[in-house]
Amino acid sequence: MTLRISIIGFGAVGQGVADALMRTAYPIKVVAIADSRGAVMDATGVDLASALQRKRETGTVALPDTDEGAVADTEGMTALDAIVGMDHEIMVEATPTDISTGGIGLSYIRKAFESGRHVVTSNKGPLVVAYSELCGLARKNDLYFRFEATVGGAMPAINLSNETLAGNRIISIEGVLNGTCNYILTRMDDEGVSYEHALGEAQELGIAEADPSADVDGIDTAAKIVILANSVFGMDVGYDDVDVTGITKITPESFKLAKEEGHTIKLIGEIRDGVLKVAPKMVPRNHPLSIGGTFNLASIQTELAGRITIGGIGAGSVETASAILSDILWIEGHQGLSPDRL
Ligand SMILES: NC(=O)c1ccc[n+]([C@@H]2O[C@H](COP(=O)([O-])OP(=O)(O)OC[C@H]3O[C@@H](n4cnc5c(N)ncnc54)[C@H](OP(=O)(O)O)[C@@H]3O)[C@@H](O)[C@H]2O)c1
Repeated sequence: MTLRISIIGFGAVGQGVADALMRTAYPIKVVAIADSRGAVMDATGVDLASALQRKRETGTVALPDTDEGAVADTEGMTALDAIVGMDHEIMVEATPTDISTGGIGLSYIRKAFESGRHVVTSNKGPLVVAYSELCGLARKNDLYFRFEATVGGAMPAINLSNETLAGNRIISIEGVLNGTCNYILTRMDDEGVSYEHALGEAQELGIAEADPSADVDGIDTAAKIVILANSVFGMDVGYDDVDVTGITKITPESFKLAKEEGHTIKLIGEIRDGVLKVAPKMVPRNHPLSIGGTFNLASIQTELAGRITIGGIGAGSVETASAILSDILWIEGHQGLSPDRL
């Protein structure tokens, strides 16, 4: 059976999903795509190449009025119309993150579950604000909720911990979970430059936002720690439960001292003994966490398997789509099985 999906949010990640689907032969049909300005829907399958081209050329995926002045079928339609009105199995949600309120993505996910859609998301906000509510809503409606892409982009930390390492008790997780911070710290370490200099360089390269606070203040890493704590450790925590320190106060002198002891400095997010922490930490140079550049890394201490360390590209359009696609295919493989039986 062909799986029908919607893509809600058609920016870097949503377009990456379309791109990834065009490269694969899986029987997956995209029946709706929405951005902030409108939606395109087609029960026989949206033409992904045209949708990508239209987005690039007009700024929206929505269809314009036809030349004759007649109104195209889906003109004026919104994401909500697509989620509720279009028959499909899975909503892929990739709208902007808001970790204070959950943002529009939280409303869309609630609506998708109420409408009988499984949900795959890359959006941290809804999970940080309402993880247990959303899991409850999914269970009540006999639906799946998957979110591998929210932590570490392409790096499969959540599903590795919960599925591949099933049977292991996870004792702790520590990770380098923000590529922007890691780039800045790597440059400070390699070149001895100031935080401000390395940040400016990251901004010029498009690695850091004009307002970098979500990254450099540790907020993004803390959101990922909340998601890991809830989904891997079965905790019930929110952003305020994380002790957060960012990287803005680190000086070249700190790196000099660390170097003298054979260490570097990394922004580490950590879950250990029920304590959630994000802070710069000295890491031995030969330790796996001493990875450089924009890479992400997670080191998972388990009861039976010992330490498992994985790394990968923490962001990017098709890289993040890789995690989304794996969640879609997981749901496809589990359809017909009640979530309660897993
Ligand atoms: N980029 C990455 O590498 C990455 C990695 C992991 C996770 N994530 C997360 O994935 C999500 C998407 O990231 P992104 O980089 O793709 O963001 P993005 O490029 O800013 O795209 C966001 C998309 O959401 C759409 N949108 C905004 N408000 C909407 C609304 N009310 N209704 C429907 N659509 C709406 C935007 O529409 P317009 O196009 O009309 O503006 C845009 O298409 C975020 O939560 C992000 O944190 C991103």
